[in-house]
Formats: sequence, structure tokens, C-alpha cells
Amino acid sequence: MRIWTITNQKGGAGKTVLATNLAVEGSNRGLKTLLIDLDPQQSATKWWEAREAEEPLLIKCLYNQVIENLEAAKKQGFELIIIDTAGREGLIHTEAIDKASFAIIPCQPSLDDCRSALPTVEIIKNSKIPFSFVITRCPASGEDLQEAKNSLSAIGLVCNTPTYERKCYKRAYADNLSVKEYDSNDKGAGEIAAIFEYIYNKEDRLGKQI
Ligand SMILES: Nc1ncnc2c1ncn2[C@@H]1O[C@H](COP(=O)(O)OP(=O)(O)OP(=O)(O)O)[C@@H](O)[C@H]1O
Ligand SMILES: [Mg+2]
Repeated sequence: MRIWTITNQKGGAGKTVLATNLAVEGSNRGLKTLLIDLDPQQSATKWWEAREAEEPLLIKCLYNQVIENLEAAKKQGFELIIIDTAGREGLIHTEAIDKASFAIIPCQPSLDDCRSALPTVEIIKNSKIPFSFVITRCPASGEDLQEAKNSLSAIGLVCNTPTYERKCYKRAYADNLSVKEYDSNDKGAGEIAAIFEYIYNKEDRLGKQI
């Protein structure tokens, strides 16, 4: 079972957008996928409750229920679990990181965002979980992407494909869809597919067997 925990103490890093899109991508690829919403703000839950599609499934979860929910999911044959976490609380409640097979750190391409991710990186490194940054909301031009890749790659893996700042991410989210469901021809759909593939393959090489 793959458990991908999406975490960054920095608010607005793009955790929920990535979690919801990767979960839909997983079920589109035929994986029995469960999205776990660990954020008391319940953004992913609100997105999911208004959906018509039956998959992926979602459960809301309290921090002290993470372990029992993962055990139940394993018994039910889920193949991919994606955990959307809250910002700073992730530094205190580390169960979702400890139990992950791979951690994903969305990070916007600015010096402040890169620095703000460091406490989260420390927690993940302490847990000895393989992880990768995914750069999010990248501007269409300028040096930001390259600069962020340079500074983050000194700390850990960086997914080569970022999400660019695109209207489709916001519109899809507002319509309770993934970007691919919203417009399969939009470049955002290709970004999510490439990010999914990258994480999946990295996990095959580096992830914990669960
Ligand atoms: N690639 C993108 N292009 C445009 N907008 C984006 C992109 N990724 C995320 N957003 C927008 O950025 C905002 C923050 O994203 P999101 O809610 O996913 O962050 P978060 O890390 O989950 O925040 P929080 O810490 O509050 O849970 C949202 O308005 C979202 O729609
Ligand atoms: Mg969120």
C-alpha cells in the first residue's frame, strides 16, 4: 500500500490542490485510492462532498485516528492513500509522516517559501521517510523556478515538473473537480500526470514497503 503524505507547515503552499488532483489521478489509473483529510479546515472534505464522481473515496480523520484508519484501509484493499495535512499542526502531530511511504512537500518558488519549508523537512528527515519537493504556482516566466530548484535540490529531491500558476487549478477546485476532469486538454492536467508518475516511480525505488 502506498501512503503519500502531503505536508508543509507553510499555509497556502498548494497541499490541498495537489492532494485532490493526485487522488483523482490515482483512481483514474485504476488504483483503489483513498484521500484522508487531516486538516481541521476540511478543505478537501468540502471539495469531495460536492462531487458527483464516486472515486476517489475520502475520510475525515483526527490525528489520533491516523494509525487505525490506515490499518482499516489496508484491510479494505486500498492501494493508494493520499493524506492532506494542515499547516503548522503537522509539526506537532507527526503520525501521518511517520506512517507514510513517501512524503511530498509542495513549495512555492520564493526564498521565503523555501525557508519556511525547512521545519517540515526536518520532521520528515527524522522519520527517515523518502520525500520530494513539488514546486507549485510557478510563474510562467522569470528565474523563480530555477532558483527554487537550485536551493531545494541542496536539501532533497525536487520533482522536475512543477505546477505553474494556472486558472484551471482554481476553477477545477471551485467546481469540485480535478484539473483533468475540468479540462483534459489543459496543460495543468499534464503537469499532474507527470508529477504523479514521478512520485510513483521514485517511491518504487526509495519508498518503504507497507
Ligand atoms: N498551480 C496553481 N495555480 C493557481 N492556483 C493554485 C495552484 N495551486 C494552488 N493554487 C491556489 O492557491 C491557494 C492555496 O492552495 P491550497 O489550498 O492547495 O494550499 P494549502 O497548502 O492546502 O493551504 P492550507 O495550508 O491553508 O491548507 C488556493 O487558492 C489554490 O486554489
Ligand atoms: Mg489545505
